[in-house]
This record gives sequence, structure tokens and C-alpha cells, in this order.
Amino acid sequence: MTTIYEPAYAKVNLTLDVLGKRPDGYHDLKSVMQTISLRDDIRLDIGTGEPWALLCDKEGIPTDQRNLAWKAAQIYCDAMGKDPEGLTIHITKRIPSQAGLGGGSADAAAVLRGLNRHYGEPLSIMALAELGAQVGSDVPFCVVGGTMMCEGRGERMRKLPDMPDCVFVVVKPAFSISTPELFQAIDQKQIAHRPDHQAMESALLAGDLSRVGQNLCNVFDPVVTEDHLELNYIKSLFYNYGSVGHQMTGSGSAVYCMVSEFEIAAVICQMLRPNYPQVFIAKPV
Ligand code: C5P
Repeated sequence: MTTIYEPAYAKVNLTLDVLGKRPDGYHDLKSVMQTISLRDDIRLDIGTGEPWALLCDKEGIPTDQRNLAWKAAQIYCDAMGKDPEGLTIHITKRIPSQAGLGGGSADAAAVLRGLNRHYGEPLSIMALAELGAQVGSDVPFCVVGGTMMCEGRGERMRKLPDMPDCVFVVVKPAFSISTPELFQAIDQKQIAHRPDHQAMESALLAGDLSRVGQNLCNVFDPVVTEDHLELNYIKSLFYNYGSVGHQMTGSGSAVYCMVSEFEIAAVICQMLRPNYPQVFIAKPV
């Protein structure tokens, strides 16, 4: 039996625009995505000689074919004609679920990278990302990571300059959002404020954290905030304690801010923790 370890990093959306509904029911998106150091850990036991299994240290996570990590392993083995002769996927979960942080996709991406490493890297990272599109919309980005412009359902990717050094504070409120319902809701709305992707790219190119902060924009943020005013409370706290930019990530409900120093992040964390136990400090990776 071989054991492979692989980190599974969470993502945040620095920008997120919904461009329109497609004939297949999905929506075309345009989003600058960033991996952060908040992570799950994946361990693959390959060649156990036992039926496939998935073990997770957190309750409430599916431990069968419904889990994207399992689905990713199945898709990889089918596509590559491999039989691991028994596979156990262990997930140590830290990324909150239903947060817009891509936790399930990150786990799936780590499984793809881990299996590909085990078999001697037969697929390039971009080919692996393409395979990831069959697992879920955010999986291609999670396979590659870093700072990327993602388009389509997320499968068309272009590398951007690395995010300038900073610290993220990420907060997951108790409520959760249904992603399909949110897409439905945005179809009924006039989007008043959309991301300026050119401005975001030039801010990244200049390595200018303040300008990156000024250009954060997620079209889902006002839609969710309208129904959950506590997000405004969290954002005002971020603002008052020196954040250079803040917003909801993906379809929520997690919100994040960026600050220049760890000490500022620690203070924000301390202020929020009594009401929000799920608060995390992370770096871009
Ligand atoms: O990709 P994921 O499984 O997170 O998507 C959940 C749901 O969100 C989809 O079933 C679809 O209704 C909606 N969605 C969409 N367009 C996308 C991504 C998701 O309409 N690009």
C-alpha cells in the first residue's frame, strides 16, 4: 500500500461576475480566483485491497460517491484506465462547508493531484484541470491554484500576476446559501455594479494591495447582504479595523477582508470570535 498526502487549499473570489445563462442551465462567469492557506488535508491510501472508502474527521460530510473527492478519484481512474486495487480517502476538514470557499472542490482537486503523482504524472497540470471540470465548476481552478482569471463555468483559465503579500481574515456566519437559488435570484435582478477586470489585472500587475482591495467586486454580495444584514456588521468591523478591502466570497456565506499586517488580522479575529467561532486567518498561496 502507498500513502500520498496532498494539501487542499480554499479559494476566494477577488472578483465574480455573472455574464448570462447558458442553454445547459449553467451561467457563464468571469472571476479572479485566489487560493489561500486555509486548507483541508487529504491522505490517499492506495492499494488497500479493500473496497473504496472515504473517512472525514468532521460530521455531516458525505462519505460516499456523493463526495466530490470520491467522484474525482472515480473520474481519474476511469479516464486513465487505472485500478488502484483499493482506495481510502482520508479528509481532515478545516474549510467550512457551504461558504463559497470551494472546500469540496479543493478536496477533489487534491485527490486528482495525488493520484496523478502516484501514477508518475501522466497528465500535465492543465490536462488534470480539464479532467477536473467533469467533477465540478471550481475544480479546474483548485487543481492549479494561485491567482487566475477564470471564465466560462470556470474551465477557461489564464494565469495572472501573483497576489501582493497580505493577510486574509475569513468569517463563516451561521447561515448558509443555496447556490442554485442564488443563481435563480440573480437572473431576476438588474446587476448595478460589476467588476472592472482591467483595473483588477493592472492592480495585480502593479502589486498594489490597496488597488486590489478597491477593485474587489462580487455581484452576489449585494443580493445576499440584502437578506442577511449581519454581513454589513462584519464588513463594518473589517473597515473600522483597517481592512484594505472586503466582500463575500463566491455564493457565500463566508465574507473576507484583506489587511497588510498579521497583527491587524489578529485584532479583527479577536473582535469577531465571540459572535463568530468560524473565523480564520490565512495568507495567499
Ligand atoms: O458547480 P456547483 O455544483 O457548485 O453548482 C451548483 C449549482 O449552481 C448548479 O447546479 C447551477 O444551478 C448553479 N451554477 C450555475 N452556473 C455556474 C455554476 C453553478 O448556474 N457557472
